[in-house]
Amino acid sequence: MSIDFALASEPPQDAEVIGVPVASELEPFSEAVVLDAARLERRGFKGKAGDVAILDEGDTLLVLIGVGKGEEAGQEAFRRAGGELARAAAHCAVACFDLRGVAGGDLTTAAAIEAVVEGAMLAEHRFVEYKSDKDEGALARIVIATDEPGADGAVVRGINIAEAVILARDLVDQPAGAMTPRRLAAVASDVAAYTGLTIKVMDEDEIAAERLGGLLGVAAGSEEPPRLVKMIYEPDAENARLVDGRVPTIAIVGKGITFDSGGLSLKTGEGMMTMKTDMSGAAAVVATLGACRALGVGCRVIGIAPITENMPSGRATRPGDVLTIRNGMTIEVLNTDAEGRLVLADGLCLANEEEPDAIVDIATLTGACIVALGKEIAGLMGNDDELIAQVEQASERAGESMWHLPLPAEYKKHIESEVADMKNIGKTGQAGTLSAGLLLAEFAGDTPWVHLDIAGPARSESEKHYLHKGATGFGIRTLLELVSTFEPTRAREDGAN
Ligand code: BES
Ligand code: MN
Ligand code: ZN
Repeated sequence: MSIDFALASEPPQDAEVIGVPVASELEPFSEAVVLDAARLERRGFKGKAGDVAILDEGDTLLVLIGVGKGEEAGQEAFRRAGGELARAAAHCAVACFDLRGVAGGDLTTAAAIEAVVEGAMLAEHRFVEYKSDKDEGALARIVIATDEPGADGAVVRGINIAEAVILARDLVDQPAGAMTPRRLAAVASDVAAYTGLTIKVMDEDEIAAERLGGLLGVAAGSEEPPRLVKMIYEPDAENARLVDGRVPTIAIVGKGITFDSGGLSLKTGEGMMTMKTDMSGAAAVVATLGACRALGVGCRVIGIAPITENMPSGRATRPGDVLTIRNGMTIEVLNTDAEGRLVLADGLCLANEEEPDAIVDIATLTGACIVALGKEIAGLMGNDDELIAQVEQASERAGESMWHLPLPAEYKKHIESEVADMKNIGKTGQAGTLSAGLLLAEFAGDTPWVHLDIAGPARSESEKHYLHKGATGFGIRTLLELVSTFEPTRAREDGAN
């Protein structure tokens, strides 16, 4: 089921549910709503972000949703509120969200509308393909009551962004036996065809011919052949944004391990239970590229996804083997479970050959990042302070938490190898996220580059606001915000385009 959205100047007669955002101190934004503070206090509803009270008002349910106060009541609070409304209204056909009077501070009405649409769509969609009882709910229509009923563009933007996130969630939630490298590449080809992207899919022979030794080494143990997807979005003439007379280019590289068993350095049974999630970076690439045209993105975007399983077998790469990456650098594989950096090394080489203005890679890369930052915050590393700042700002607007971690030169020794240019693991129990980042930095070279380690936030273990248990589609909203606002951080010396 999908939801229809409409804008109106006041709640429609047929709304069975009316959602009202309420700030702390129990202040509804809309002057049309009068709250009985004593009644709410008895229910423990204080208007704090995340507070929800459902009041039965005869024909309608009134759903009060706390958004906090001041700065807290920003776009993310409204995205979450949209999710809470869709949950509360799941079994009704028509709901209304009363956004009259919400604009204030940094929050515009358009931003609030966009956020509510995203939150409601993300909360409503669930992955039920393999459920006999699909229990899809009844919510068919959400009318947003607003002072700016002409803000259709905000609704459309919210729908396009949510659809991209939903696509990625569906790809990641598919069992690894169904979402093989070949299948994921086929979906990327469909997305490219529908949205007017150029796509190139390399099969195992081309991957070998192109000397993608990291990807080949990780794929060696699997019966399923690997794929390398390269997608290119070129803006239409009317959307193209010229900077110094040319259209800037961003490359996005996503880790696409459709199943990570660890390879010969086999994970535990527990450890591999969620490892179909290890292609979340590649899913983010496909989803982000697929949304660029609908959002009218003004720069060129190149998506690169090395895709393979990581499996043990008689043909698998062994601990101690040395792989040669596309640019000729060699990596000693001491743990076959540190496979993401090996496929990303090739992906970063390919990205660099396109001479982009910036590279962002996105990967469920290290368990250590979960130890450091927990399940809800991604690690962010990079080699260019200005690009790092742009990604941080995009992530804030997108409501995706990221924390900047260092790439200390003094830890480069952690990945020194006795036999090759570097090894694929650092020191046991020390800075595992940083040693992975330091290895990737070698392949990013001088190009402005940011690395996003999404090992934690790619999956949710809880049901809350717009999140379900399972894939989250984390990173896509940030990437879409980044490509929509990107400014090159360095002038080009060559003046060429
Ligand atoms: N895909 C995993 C990282 C991961 C772990 C993501 C848990 C999400 C949840 C990655 O390929 C991996 O196995 N990394 C190893 C690296 C180690 C062997 C240096 C890890 O984190 O244990
Ligand atoms: Mn692994
Ligand atoms: Zn992995």
